[in-house]
Amino acid sequence: MSKMITQYVCQQCGRSFARSFGRCPQCGTYDSMVEEVIEKTPAAQKASPLGTLTRSTPVRLNDIEGDTAERIPISIGEFARVLGGGVVPGSIVLIGGDPGIGKSTLLLQVALEMAAKNTVLYVSGEESERQIKMRATRLQNSPPAKTFPEQLFLVTETNLDAILEHVRTVKPKMLVVDSIQTVYIPELESSAGSISQVRESASRLRKLAKTSGMAVFVIGHVTKEGVIAGPRVLEHIVDTVLYLEGDSFQSFRLLRSVKNRFGATSEVGVFEMREGGMAEVPNPSEAFLAERLVNTPGSAIAVTMEGTRPLLVEIQGLTSHTSLNNPRRTPNGVDMYRLLLIAAVLTRRMGLRLAEQDVFVNVIGGLRIGEPAADLAVAAAIASSQRDLPVRADTVLIGEVGLSGELRWVSQMETRLREAGKLGFKQAIIPRRVRRGEDLPQGITIHEARSLREALDYALLQEKRD
Ligand code: TYD
Ligand code: MG
Repeated sequence: MSKMITQYVCQQCGRSFARSFGRCPQCGTYDSMVEEVIEKTPAAQKASPLGTLTRSTPVRLNDIEGDTAERIPISIGEFARVLGGGVVPGSIVLIGGDPGIGKSTLLLQVALEMAAKNTVLYVSGEESERQIKMRATRLQNSPPAKTFPEQLFLVTETNLDAILEHVRTVKPKMLVVDSIQTVYIPELESSAGSISQVRESASRLRKLAKTSGMAVFVIGHVTKEGVIAGPRVLEHIVDTVLYLEGDSFQSFRLLRSVKNRFGATSEVGVFEMREGGMAEVPNPSEAFLAERLVNTPGSAIAVTMEGTRPLLVEIQGLTSHTSLNNPRRTPNGVDMYRLLLIAAVLTRRMGLRLAEQDVFVNVIGGLRIGEPAADLAVAAAIASSQRDLPVRADTVLIGEVGLSGELRWVSQMETRLREAGKLGFKQAIIPRRVRRGEDLPQGITIHEARSLREALDYALLQEKRD
């Protein structure tokens, strides 16, 4: 017999306690405790490390069948890229993202694609079958008369036992669960979406994936605070975690892998949300630069690495006079700390009078840059706006800015420069090379600068051009 016990679970970090706290002792979040009733399996039923009930048997490595690298190919290239190739049978993938960002749309597209050759079951707890059909019709850009793949099955269901039953009858190669927050296990008394429901449902789906060889895609919502959704606790359970990001006011969407047992992490796929669904953007650098105004102050081009992929992005800076005692520093797409650091270095080492200026920095295309290699471009965009002088239009700026105003070398310079050259940029301003080992590509003129001052002296045109 199983026994019901009550415990208090932090919805942020998933740690459970016997009593409630106003502030979680583990992660420090306030008001995050929710009372949950948990079904406790008697110890004897659990597979304990020394237990006698374990049914698994060790197998010789040589005797294990099947090529583990075997993947089901998928023609949505940007999706395959983030997965590290194709879909891995028996794997469980979490796709997280803000509500409305396009998770259901993308997964339905993937399901339609996969169903051409494999049986696919799409389980939704959020929309009715009719609603999903309407979306599918919207996604088919071919004439509306065209029929959908025979092997694609839809069902609206939230009870995990019923879902597992459907899996047994349909026997899909791929299962989509949209979303994990709507799924519940009837034996657990806590409500759907609570940490224990989400965690337990995901564990059962994982077990199913491993034993059946079916690929499972689980959608998870992330709220700004990450409180109700708790995909953090899921990250340990699944094989691969992908996040779909983007500014909901802009059309670009980035699918980023933050964990991948079968491929590289921080790989990025770029999509654009269109009328007919998510369209792949195979040349994101070109797309990000498409609307750029050449020779206007306050714009600089950085080359950032997203996984193995170099991306050229426009960084815009704007300084504007303020009478506030505490002038604003507003980053969009770059880290606040980096912006504060760069603004301080520009003030102290370059004599830029930013103390009475609000400073805004914006990365075009909705990209979030996490690496310091874009520092130089951020600094140039701010200085360019403040001095009202444009940055050379045919030039990319690469380098980390140090506290003494020095420029520091960044990794993968060759890859970055090659991408810039490919997109027609003629010059690059980079830090001075300490090691001469790295081969830099031909066809792009390199200007080495020891300091931010040297770099900006060259980067900023001395007069305004139109
Ligand atoms: P959706 O996939 O429902 O988001 P999520 O599952 O992450 O909550 O996407 C919702 C948004 O996408 C909605 O604002 C409408 C838009 N959209 C398009 O622009 N084009 C399309 O073809 C589709 C299906 C949706
Ligand atoms: Mg959805």
